[in-house]
Formats: sequence, structure tokens, C-alpha cells
Amino acid sequence: MTAPTRYNYKVVHQFAIMTVVWGIVGMLVGVFIAAQLAWPALNFDTSWLSFGRLRPLHTNAVIFAFGGSALMATSLFVVQRTCHTRLISDRLAAFVFWGWQAVIVAAAITLPMGLTSSKEYAELEWPIDVLIAIVWICYAIVFFGTITKRKEKHIYVANWFFGAFIIAVAILHIINSLALPVTLTKSYSVYSGTVDALVQWWYGHNAVGFFLTAGFLGIMYYFVPKQAERPVYSYRLSVVHFWALIAIYVWAGPHHLHFTSLPDWTQSVGMAMSLVLLAPSWGGMINGIMTLSGAWDKLRTDPILKFLIVSLSFYGMSTFEGPMMSIKSVNALSHYTDWTIGHVHSGALGWVAMISIGSMYHLIPLMYGRRAGAMYSVKLIDLHFWLSTIGTVLYIVSMWVNGLMQGLMWRAVNSDGTLTYSFIESVEASYAGYVVRFIGGAIFFAGMLVMAYNIWKTRQLALANPLPADDLIDSNVQGAHA
Ligand code: HEM
Ligand code: HEM
Repeated sequence: MTAPTRYNYKVVHQFAIMTVVWGIVGMLVGVFIAAQLAWPALNFDTSWLSFGRLRPLHTNAVIFAFGGSALMATSLFVVQRTCHTRLISDRLAAFVFWGWQAVIVAAAITLPMGLTSSKEYAELEWPIDVLIAIVWICYAIVFFGTITKRKEKHIYVANWFFGAFIIAVAILHIINSLALPVTLTKSYSVYSGTVDALVQWWYGHNAVGFFLTAGFLGIMYYFVPKQAERPVYSYRLSVVHFWALIAIYVWAGPHHLHFTSLPDWTQSVGMAMSLVLLAPSWGGMINGIMTLSGAWDKLRTDPILKFLIVSLSFYGMSTFEGPMMSIKSVNALSHYTDWTIGHVHSGALGWVAMISIGSMYHLIPLMYGRRAGAMYSVKLIDLHFWLSTIGTVLYIVSMWVNGLMQGLMWRAVNSDGTLTYSFIESVEASYAGYVVRFIGGAIFFAGMLVMAYNIWKTRQLALANPLPADDLIDSNVQGAHA
């Protein structure tokens, strides 16, 4: 048996490369809309360049194109490695890849045109929603089909998290997107009023819980032990972590709808469940970080591990902040302000992007027949690590400052009961924060370009010194799961 037939690395490679490509595109749009918020003239009075149209382009590109490609690359890699078997169907896997890219391209065309269902994180119109559902079901067949033909009795915990993410996202997407089509480009949701809001934020919050969290925890459970060359700290904790996380996440959605027409008790349930969610979130973080116990010194020399471990610290930070923001009295201050945007990006940049980047640095050299993590330049990975960390910190700190200031300015009243500040005064006061956020975003983005260069050179190096077929087999199968 030769290496290329043992595992299907083609689809993993394709998704891995597209992770970097869509990361660059999505973050470039992020930097541009950050600039628009500081310098509104950059809207150029052009509808398809306006903030309102580019913002959903940014969120769709970073979450579904960048994050989605990272999740598909890693899940299809991990399921093969830990089940000691090839994907159940190469053709179906290829369809998943090309189908997902078609969804992304359709989004990149229709969102700037202003075609939107106006549901946040589910903006795409119904024909694209149908395509997403078909591709996603095929993805589920490839993933679970591969598990059924596994050569290893045990199903490694990373696959549990990937599996939960795949099932939950299918349910969320199909239920939230139910709509009556009017034309090819216009449909109306089957839900209305408060029910629409509740379904939307059940979807929205669980998109965070299962797309941006459970799937990436799957990445953590495979790549942290592999890169650290240590077993998972506690297997028992990982089982408790899994069941607690999926059981609690689904109840927390109403914290997005505090002080709305949603029945008050549902808001309180959302708040209570969000507070409880701190426990499994931190259990998972501790399990990841403690995997390094006895090998902390590796953090000094291995920037890939730095990416993975620092991402877990940001995960811990955002999952502490989230429960705090779900407390009604805190939310009364934070809601509608840049504090939410800071929270989002401590999760999105610090956790989601950094763990994706770390796992890609581990995985991509394997695609070229090199040792895991053997990139062209370790120094450039280290540079990327610092650019990402500094960029994230500048982003979130500037938004915390802006958010608190906005919340306090909006609620300040004079002794006669009139407002102390007009809204526009709070916008003016936010300018410095917007400039700092733009700088932080641009620094993070620059790191992605460094990554692309490093990958390109790794590929060239591998082409110049191809490994003999036997070594290739070894590098593919050694230590198949942690
Ligand atoms: C260079 C990096 C990035 C920059 C400069 C950036 C910038 C921005 C800006 C300016 C907004 C709009 C904020 C507002 O409406 O006030 C935004 C929203 C958002 N971004 Fe990013 N972003 C970046 C990376 C990411 C990544 C990697 C993710 C996800 C993995 C992400 C997820 C989001 C989400 C979910 C929102 C909507 C937040 C909300 O509605 O509360 N961003 N981003
Ligand atoms: C225990 C975990 C978490 C809890 C309880 C939580 C709670 C919250 C709360 C209360 C809000 C503000 C809602 C509002 O005022 O509108 C929020 C917004 C948000 N959070 Fe979290 N959060 C958690 C973790 C995370 C993580 C890890 C991420 C990203 C990876 C994330 C992404 C988001 C996004 C994207 C929004 C903005 C949604 C929108 O309005 O568009 N959260 N979260």
C-alpha cells in the first residue's frame, strides 16, 4: 500500500489551502470595514462598497469560508487518522469541497448586491440555503460513514465534538432557514415577530456554540496533544466536558434578546444557562492547557504550540466574559455597544482564528510529505504568532474601552433628567478606538500574509526534496491518535 491510497489527503489539502485563502479575503474585508467605521468616506457613496453590505460579507467569509474550511480540513483529516481508515468516498468528499466553495462564491456575489434574508449569520437567500443543506448532508455522510468503517474500536473524543458540530449545524441551518420563496432572489421567513427573533437567536447562539466552539474543540482535542506529544490531560474530563457543553449551550440563546418582547422568564433562563456554561467551557480549556503539564518548556521553542495554547487562553477569556455579559444588569450596559464586538473578536480572533492557524501549521507540512509542523521557517511562524497576539489585543482592548464609554455616555443623565450626551458625541468619542482597532486588524491580517508566504516556501521545499515513498507512509501513519 502506498501513501496516497492510505488516506485521502487531497480534500484535506484543498480545504487547508482555502482556509488560508478565505482567511486572507475575509480579514481584508474586516480591515476595510474597520477603516470605514473610522473614516466613513471610504464607503465611496457606492452601494456595493457600503458598510451595510460588506459587513455580512465579512462575517460570512470569516465564519463559514475561513472557519468552515478549517473545520472541514481538520475533521476530514482527524477522522481518517483516528479511525485508521480512508474516507468512505473520495467522490463525495470532492463534492463537499467544490460544493462548499460554490456556496462561498455565491455569497461573495450576492451579499454585495444587497440580496439578503436579513437574518444575522443566515443572510443568504433560499437557493444558496438549499445548496448549503445538500453539501452539509453530504459532509455528514462522509464523516459518519468513515466512522462506521473504522479499524479502531474506540471513537476518539475529537470526533465526538466534530460529530456534534455537524449534526447541530444541520438542524440549526434547516430550521432557521425555513422560508417561503417569492422569486429566485427573495423569500420570507416562515416565522414572524417574537417567534422569528427566538428562532433566529437560538440559531445565532448555537452557531457560536457548535460552529465556532464545538468544532474547534474537536481541533483542540487532536492537535494540542499531537503538537505537545503528550496524551490528553484527562480523558474523563473530556467526556464530562462534551456532554455538559452540548446539553447547556442550546438553552442560552435568549441572552441575545434581553429587554425585548421575548417573555421575561425565557430571558432569565437564557441568563442562568449562560452562567452555568462557564463550567464546561473552563473544564475544556483546563483540559487543553493542562495537556502541556510536564512539557511547558516546549512553549519556549515551539510557536505552533504557542498558537494552540494562547488560543485556549482567549477561549477561557471569552467564555468568562460571555456569561458576565449575559447577566441582565451587565447586558443593559454592554448591549448595542462595541463591548459586544470586542467579545466577539476575543473569541473569533483569539480562539477560532488562532487555533485554526496553529492546526494548519501542524497539518500542512504533512500534505507535502513532510513531518507534522515542519514548515519552511519556524521564525516566520513565531513572527506570525506575535502579529496575531498583538493584533488581537489591540482589537479587543480598543473595543472594551469604546464599549464601556458608549454604554456610560448613553445612560448619563443631568439632574433635570435630560441626556448628558447626544448620540453623535459618543460616536465622536469612539474615533480613537476605531483607529486602534483598524491598526490591530491590519497587524493580524499582515500575519496571514506571512503564513501564506511560509506555506508557499514549504511547498517549494517539499517539491525540491521529495521524500521516498516509504518515509511518506511513515510520516502519514505514525502515532495515529493521541
Ligand atoms: C483582521 C481581522 C478582523 C477585523 C479587522 C475585523 C473587523 C470587524 C468589524 C469592523 C466588524 C463590524 C463591527 C461593527 O459592526 O461595529 C466585524 C464584525 C464581526 N466579525 Fe470581524 N474582523 C476580523 C476578523 C474576524 C474573524 C476571524 C471572525 C470569525 C472567525 C470575525 C467575526 C466577526 C463577527 C461574528 C462579527 C459580527 C459581530 C456582531 O454582530 O456582534 N471577525 N469584524
Ligand atoms: C460561555 C460562553 C459564552 C457566553 C455565555 C456568551 C455570551 C454572550 C452574550 C451575553 C453576548 C451579547 C449578546 C448581546 O448583548 O447582544 C454575546 C455575543 C456574541 N458572542 Fe458570546 N458568549 C460566549 C462565548 C463566545 C465565544 C467563544 C464566541 C466566539 C467564538 C462568541 C461569539 C459571540 C458573537 C459572534 C456574539 C455577537 C452576536 C451578535 O449580536 O451578532 N461567544 N455572547
